[in-house]
Amino acid sequence: MEPMVQLMDVRKEYGETAALAGVTLDIQAGQAVAVMGPSGSGKSTLLNMIAGLDRPTSGTVVVRGEDITAMGEAELARYRRRRIGMVFQFFNLLDDLPVLENVMLAAQLLGTSRKQAQSRALELLDELGIADRRNAYPVVLSGGERQRVGVARALMNRPALLLADEPTGALDSRAGEQVMDLLLDLNQIGQTLLIVTHDERLATRVADRVVAFEDGRVAAEVTR
Ligand SMILES: Nc1ncnc2c1ncn2[C@@H]1O[C@H](COP(=O)(O)OP(=O)(O)OP(=O)(O)O)[C@@H](O)[C@H]1O
Ligand SMILES: [Mg+2]
Repeated sequence: MEPMVQLMDVRKEYGETAALAGVTLDIQAGQAVAVMGPSGSGKSTLLNMIAGLDRPTSGTVVVRGEDITAMGEAELARYRRRRIGMVFQFFNLLDDLPVLENVMLAAQLLGTSRKQAQSRALELLDELGIADRRNAYPVVLSGGERQRVGVARALMNRPALLLADEPTGALDSRAGEQVMDLLLDLNQIGQTLLIVTHDERLATRVADRVVAFEDGRVAAEVTR
């Protein structure tokens, strides 16, 4: 079967720095892939390339048969919103909007009606066990609760691919474990995942493939 994501000799240079120095990598639908590696090895750059947040200096990124590196800005923005869900270390929630509105926004940006966005957001908050926090503002939530809101927001548009950059990096170990279990549950119902983590335990608990980065390259790979 054609891989969901196919990177072919992807390079990304920032001035003299080669953040990615030729990465070739396939991700199959339904896989949970963890990316590990030292600081500065190119992990976040890799996610940004797949998310279409930035463009490679050379090489191609093909997602579900479409070469996203050949897309124009408008098409790339649509791809990002429709196909990709992103979860961040520091949540990236909007502090002046309540939880429900934070989650709804992802769908409203695609033109979904308020009513439909609201029912989908409530359904997700319920599934993630935080429906009772829907009217709270992010600042009053615990880190674990904030990250669940972040995951709900990422899932709003039923993305083909969920990308997470250190999703447990700002959480204590218990909240981190709950978020990992949540990601594992999502993968078990078919969600394709790519998770950057420093946490060996998260990597082995959730991922069926661990890709080790070093100096902008895939240095090693373990498939379980
Ligand atoms: N926008 C940018 N401008 C200039 N250099 C950048 C930019 N983004 C990344 N880099 C450089 O590219 C290299 C890879 O960075 P990247 O953020 O991908 O590493 P990382 O593996 O995610 O590190 P960390 O574990 O610290 O998050 C680093 O040397 C970094 O300084
Ligand atoms: Mg990073």
